[in-house]
Amino acid sequence: MKILVVGSGGREHALAWKIAQSPRIQTVYVAPGNGGTALDQRLENINITDPAELADFVVREHVALTVVGPETPLAAGIVNIFRDRGLKIFGPTREAAQLESSKDFAKSFMQRHHIPTAEYQTFSDVDAAHQYIDQKGAPIVIKADGLAAGKGVVVAMTLEEAHGAVDMMLSDNRLGDAGARVVIEEFLAGEEASFIVMVDGKNILPLATSQDHKRLKDDDQGPNTGGMGAYSPAPIVTPALHARVMREIITPTVQGMAKDGIPFSGFLYAGLMIDDKGNPKTLEFNCRMGDPETQPIMARLKTDLLTVMEHAVTGTLDTIELEWDRRTALGVVMAAAGYPDAPRKDDLISGIPAETADTVTFHAGTTLNGERLTTSGGRVLCVVGLGDSVKVAQKQAYNVIDSIHFSGAQFRRDIGWRALKKHA
Ligand SMILES: Nc1ncnc2c1ncn2[C@@H]1O[C@H](COP(=O)(O)OP(=O)(O)OP(=O)(O)O)[C@@H](O)[C@H]1O
Ligand SMILES: [Mg+2]
Repeated sequence: MKILVVGSGGREHALAWKIAQSPRIQTVYVAPGNGGTALDQRLENINITDPAELADFVVREHVALTVVGPETPLAAGIVNIFRDRGLKIFGPTREAAQLESSKDFAKSFMQRHHIPTAEYQTFSDVDAAHQYIDQKGAPIVIKADGLAAGKGVVVAMTLEEAHGAVDMMLSDNRLGDAGARVVIEEFLAGEEASFIVMVDGKNILPLATSQDHKRLKDDDQGPNTGGMGAYSPAPIVTPALHARVMREIITPTVQGMAKDGIPFSGFLYAGLMIDDKGNPKTLEFNCRMGDPETQPIMARLKTDLLTVMEHAVTGTLDTIELEWDRRTALGVVMAAAGYPDAPRKDDLISGIPAETADTVTFHAGTTLNGERLTTSGGRVLCVVGLGDSVKVAQKQAYNVIDSIHFSGAQFRRDIGWRALKKHA
């Protein structure tokens, strides 16, 4: 069987790597893929990104099923295009992807369906936005309505920062259309967790829990990034909290979308803030898997992912269960010099060891030119270690990191610290 994975990041490498382990796989195509998917014998990169051309490719090559990694093609309607042509694809339609592509859509949806989230209001008028901020006070959070590649959220600790964020988005149009409307919401304190499930329009299959590390530097210092590391499971999500999130957030979301006439299928990612009393609130929805959460999650998945995907596109996710490696998987991102503002390209990468039973390195911003593997993006690699404890998994990952070299590599030394602190 032939499968297509759309995207080029670490998330897509991990998904393709896992799907390719199925004994029924002939080829897993990755469009456009990266240096790591080029190196893997079981994967094949294809240099197409236009959704209609991808659909043509799928028809021509008899690809059985397509899985979409990133949000941009989903928000642009790749699923609508494939479905109109009768092609099997796992992901939300353009309409359902609004849960991620419009913060205002997500907030009004949550309000309408009584899903716990921060109090908010949406503005396109600058003066009204400034007035609301003065009325509410700081800290307060300003979010661009549209997709802004991780640059659209300002957690303002002072009124000055909040007013500045509104001016940046609404007056100076620095984020273009994405920032033409802003959601201004209540600041929530607590610990974050990523809660990711698969949805087939109706049935929900939860994946293992995970936690990301957004800041560039150790101790959660430095600028926000796309994510510097993640591990699974996340001990903050206890079985009781898991049940509560399913009952109060995930199930009402899936049922609410169906009731509103835009059934959701695909990966549904709820970003949670859990307060000091253990109450969860929804910070955001993403309509895809997280990167780098996917990398440790896929490293722990034991069930054949191809079979899972087949159930996902035929609406039978209620008939299977997922089996997980009981160990902790911990992924550390190695980023390029200059990341996140201006990542440098074309640094030569060396020393990536072969995969073992407890380590695997997923590629993101890498390019293979003949024998030369070079950096070509902000987040370059995600090194995953597996172990019976967070500490052992961490040690496995950092042992591999210490053997990999590229000039100016940036990575954190403390991925997993929250879990280690809880343990201590
Ligand atoms: N109401 C809030 N209170 C406190 N912190 C918040 C709030 N909303 C967002 N944040 C912080 O800002 C980060 C980014 O916010 P959000 O997830 O809404 O943006 P995003 O750009 O969609 O992120 P992502 O790139 O993860 O999809 C969150 O992970 C969280 O750390
Ligand atoms: Mg988001």
